[in-house]
Amino acid sequence: MRTSPDPLLSRRGLLAGGAAAAAGALAACAPEPVSVAAPAGPSGSSGPSGLIGPGGQDVEAFDGPHQAGVATLPQAHAVFAGLDLRPGTGREAIGRLMRLLTDDTRRLASGRAALADVETEMAVLPARLTVTFGFGPGLFTAAGLDRLRPESVAPLPAFTIDRLEERWSGGDLVAQICADDPMTVAHALRVIIRDARAFTTVRWTQRGFRRAAHVQAAGTTQRNLMGQLDGTVNPEPGSPDFDRAVWTRDGPSWMRGGTTLVVRRVRMELETWDAADRAGREFSVGRRLSDGAPLTGNAEHDVPDLDRLNAAGLPVISEFAHVRRAHVADPGMRILRRVYNYDEGPTSRGKADSGLVLAAYQADVARQFVPIQRRLAEADLLNDWTTPIGSAVFAVPPGCSSDGWIGDTLLS
Ligand code: HEM
Repeated sequence: MRTSPDPLLSRRGLLAGGAAAAAGALAACAPEPVSVAAPAGPSGSSGPSGLIGPGGQDVEAFDGPHQAGVATLPQAHAVFAGLDLRPGTGREAIGRLMRLLTDDTRRLASGRAALADVETEMAVLPARLTVTFGFGPGLFTAAGLDRLRPESVAPLPAFTIDRLEERWSGGDLVAQICADDPMTVAHALRVIIRDARAFTTVRWTQRGFRRAAHVQAAGTTQRNLMGQLDGTVNPEPGSPDFDRAVWTRDGPSWMRGGTTLVVRRVRMELETWDAADRAGREFSVGRRLSDGAPLTGNAEHDVPDLDRLNAAGLPVISEFAHVRRAHVADPGMRILRRVYNYDEGPTSRGKADSGLVLAAYQADVARQFVPIQRRLAEADLLNDWTTPIGSAVFAVPPGCSSDGWIGDTLLS
């Protein structure tokens, strides 16, 4: 059994010191990695917590030019934590916080316990853990760096369909925590919140899920709780269009290789949706429920024919269908929808409390996200069953190399 470092020593080193002290503490107090690397044998292998199944030890690389958790194939489970900085937390303290959270994430993502983690066994199955950090408008003000805030990292304009609730909106800092195992997500959240506690308070957390890992072929489009295939038209990671659509190239130089994140919480009225007939439900989106094919096509990835008319001379895909209203012709100007389902219900009256935590990544919020949301707010048949109830916008800094930390291009 390995021993944990003295929690107080580690904590003091990281919280009280500056960069040098923190780096010294990291080097001096770093616990030996808890074994994760035992490769699974043909029938699974025995690790510190017993037999390990497929995927438990899978690792998403943390270091790199972009933060993990954006181009990463979406994991099955997510929690988004929106945090507010405590009054008086300025640039230097935010830098210390981000060094600490970077170190936590780098360790947890590779299956090693975070410093001062007393539950070291909880870290051994990273299950593709990623923690992606974003800075809300208030962080720039607190750090005295408003001049370096990308212009569109600000609350979105008000849309007529919005019924935004304070408890799901805003935030100075976000951590998007995703993994294929809900225990891993819960533990990472606990570590992040614990280490951020001296600097932040929790404003909101939003949990989401997709199909469990390994129950479908990798890359299968997920279904949302309305039963639709959701994510068909999305930038393809690794393609030039993805790079253009998602990674920030202009604006303040510290953001190069970063992106922006819009988190919209959209409630679904599942009772009235269930009451609509199938043809009506498909008409509202412009795609079939069974296989996600456009109403003018045969297979999910067929390109919708927006000009095709039916026998009555009306568009097969309605003028007000969701896919027509949301469509962006230039693939390099699309948004990356990394959506998760939420289901907190039923309420005491037996009503569903379900919807989407829609995480949208794009190089520029004003140029890409806002025009789509505006068109949807003006007219979208889906609006009869969906209501935005939360909204938050963040600048997502670029990734870092093994001796760097998330946010160093802005804060150091
Ligand atoms: C609960 C709310 C929503 C539901 C249930 C929903 C569902 C869907 C479905 C089923 C599709 C077709 C399949 C696909 O390409 O993924 C789609 C497409 C799309 N949605 Fe949504 N959506 C919602 C909200 C939003 C919001 C808020 C935005 C952005 C502001 C958005 C942007 C898009 C885009 C860009 C497409 C692709 C359009 C294209 O074909 O080019 N959606 N959505």
